[in-house]
Amino acid sequence: KRILVLNGPNLNLLGTREPGVYGVATLRDIEQSCKALAVELGLTLDFRQTNSEGELVTWIQDARLTSDAIVINPAAYSHTSVAVHDALKAIGLPVVEVHLSNIHQRESFRHHSYVSLVATGVICGLGPSGYTLALRALAEQLQ
Ligand code: DQA
Repeated sequence: KRILVLNGPNLNLLGTREPGVYGVATLRDIEQSCKALAVELGLTLDFRQTNSEGELVTWIQDARLTSDAIVINPAAYSHTSVAVHDALKAIGLPVVEVHLSNIHQRESFRHHSYVSLVATGVICGLGPSGYTLALRALAEQLQ
């Protein structure tokens, strides 16, 4: 099965970005743990990051031809983007939404996610483990 892992704005700065909130792992570290697990689970992985909402929407649209499921950390677009919500709804693939931090414990503007409304499942507050847990869940469900 083919899994598309998408990362939204500012996640390219992981490692140096508010380490007290997001930890010290870089996005590259997270990608490497995902790739290692994918080999173990027999999944094909495409791991990407963009700061652009339009690019994220295009990648989601393209996934209907190339992927069996999506893991997405939409970052700030979780809280703002009807376009990302609509794109995920349009393609109808299984989606696991991941947040490194526990968004419910933070500022109130982070408590609502447009993506959660169309996600199969949501993982937050577990740091980089959220990504690998999402992959494990999808591997089981796609069997
Ligand atoms: C985040 C949480 C969002 O509120 C924030 O805008 C991010 C990262 C997380 O992984 O905890 O950029 O999605």
